[in-house]
Amino acid sequence: MSIVVICPGRKVDYWIDALKETDPEVEVLTHEQVRENGSVIYALAWDQPPGIFSRYPNLRCVSSLGAGADHLVRDPDIPDQADIVRIIDPRLSDDLFEFSLAVVMNRLRSLTRYKVKQLEKKWEKKLYNRIEDLSIGIMGTGVIGGHVAEKLCSLGFSVNGWSRSGDRPGSYCKYAGKEEMEAFLENTDILICILPLTDSTKGILNKENLMKLPEKSYLVNLGRGGHLVDNDLIELLDSGHLSGASLDVFHFEPLPEDHPFWEHPGIDITPHVASITDPSKVAPQIIENYHRVKKGIRPKNTVSKEKGY
Ligand code: GLV
Repeated sequence: MSIVVICPGRKVDYWIDALKETDPEVEVLTHEQVRENGSVIYALAWDQPPGIFSRYPNLRCVSSLGAGADHLVRDPDIPDQADIVRIIDPRLSDDLFEFSLAVVMNRLRSLTRYKVKQLEKKWEKKLYNRIEDLSIGIMGTGVIGGHVAEKLCSLGFSVNGWSRSGDRPGSYCKYAGKEEMEAFLENTDILICILPLTDSTKGILNKENLMKLPEKSYLVNLGRGGHLVDNDLIELLDSGHLSGASLDVFHFEPLPEDHPFWEHPGIDITPHVASITDPSKVAPQIIENYHRVKKGIRPKNTVSKEKGY
């Protein structure tokens, strides 16, 4: 029995080395190295090519390489009997928090703006906001979003959290479901999206919803590109309703060279780096799940195929 790692464009060796170091007895192969497709019971995948899972009829579990598993949930070739699992690692939650904090502080103190002014050799002071001046709205308060919300609260930010059910513990102000979305948005100056991408969250960052944010608010998308309606963002930036946006995720990655986001003065782009899974840190949970699956026990950190997260 073996594990196959499928991650085109990523450093597959890091994953294989980390897994073998954790358990040298386990056979871990790249897709190209697999000789007996029937012996593969566990797959680790990111950005997998279409149709690839149909080559592994005995798959019992497919794991994402990261916290999100939308690329697996929407793959029609994962056999029904196979569980889908994701990575849950406190470091990923901390990384998302630290990235969010960096973006928010950059925004409060206009650091990117000063870099632009520096390149123009312009000495132009601008008034700044303090932590207590603006409220932050976290859209998606699951394991990661809830952690980000709590940590921002502990630093003195006024934080609102929106989720489907709002039933997680936490000291931030909670809003739940469609009914409370409007109130959540109306009370948010910096909106940070950390939602999973599902049929019901696709396109949630659209004109109708973003118009409910106060004038001059700021958008941060750390979820998936599919949450955002790109043209709506450009329209709201151009009209001045939004004062700017920081985007780490895109419909197509890498972001195509001719995409208008690249040259928009109101948009800061980062190449999907808010949190990056460290193979050596998460290999133990993958190996543990592999052994569970091998023994016929359900793996940990499963994703609901119905809910999509
Ligand atoms: C990153 O986007 C992840 O899902 O871990």
